[in-house]
Amino acid sequence: MGLGKEVITVDKLDIGLWTLAARGHIVPSRSLLKTPRQIAAIKKSAALNTAVLDHVAAHIHEGMSTAEIDRLVYDFTTEHGGIPAPLNYEGFPKSVCTSLNNVVCHGIPSEHEFLTEGDILNVDVSTILDGYYSDASRMFTIGDISPEAARLVRVTQECVDLGLKAAKPWGHLGDIAHAINTHARKHGYSVVEDIGGHGIGLEFHEEPFVSYVTPKGSEMVLVPGMMFTIEPMVNEGSPDFFVDEDDDWTVYTIDDGLSAQVEYMVLVTESGVEVLSR
Ligand code: MF3
Ligand code: CO
Repeated sequence: MGLGKEVITVDKLDIGLWTLAARGHIVPSRSLLKTPRQIAAIKKSAALNTAVLDHVAAHIHEGMSTAEIDRLVYDFTTEHGGIPAPLNYEGFPKSVCTSLNNVVCHGIPSEHEFLTEGDILNVDVSTILDGYYSDASRMFTIGDISPEAARLVRVTQECVDLGLKAAKPWGHLGDIAHAINTHARKHGYSVVEDIGGHGIGLEFHEEPFVSYVTPKGSEMVLVPGMMFTIEPMVNEGSPDFFVDEDDDWTVYTIDDGLSAQVEYMVLVTESGVEVLSR
């Protein structure tokens, strides 16, 4: 043994983070703060992810199966040098999550599930490009939908946009949650509590877990270089859910009510919060 040649460098950011931590704030570890080089690579992955969603948007139609959406995602992603992140992820069997009507999230595309007039569908696309991860989702509506369904989809989109607006460098994750939960509740809806967003970039799911029901000023400080998702699940009725016993993935609302979700992948910068994929 001996005194090693290990060099420990401490910079201004470390001191800032320690100071915040000493005051009781939750701060990210330095490993969660992406370097400029990583940010450039992750942005390429995110651009492909958005292009996949645009491709789905251009081809989705009444009468198609959700398995056809899966093929659109697989083919487009791989033709552009990417890998669909869900495929074989912890045993997930398909390339995309398709969550219809009363499905909260993690719906598995099926040859037997067809889009019909009145449906609302979340398509959640996640991409690996050159080893870097991206993730975003959109709602799609099929033909004429009920006023109730339309209102849920609209308010869920508004929730995410308000959450984004509330996100500020050196603010807190709870500021986003507060904006989302307040808007959802104002419309009589509930936000799912036990499933949330996540850090992303170097891995599919990184720290922190992102809740959308926590109070303003709580949870992790938003430090420039952090990347995470804003992806609340908004339910018409109860926020409670159950997981399909047969496939172990599909999450349904407990009361059979409708559920909607929109997901943005964001980067905290010195001056604001940038959407990388939506
Ligand atoms: N895109 C989902 C998320 O936001 C991924 C779920 S894991 C999967 O985290 F295997 F179902 F894709
Ligand atoms: Co996600």
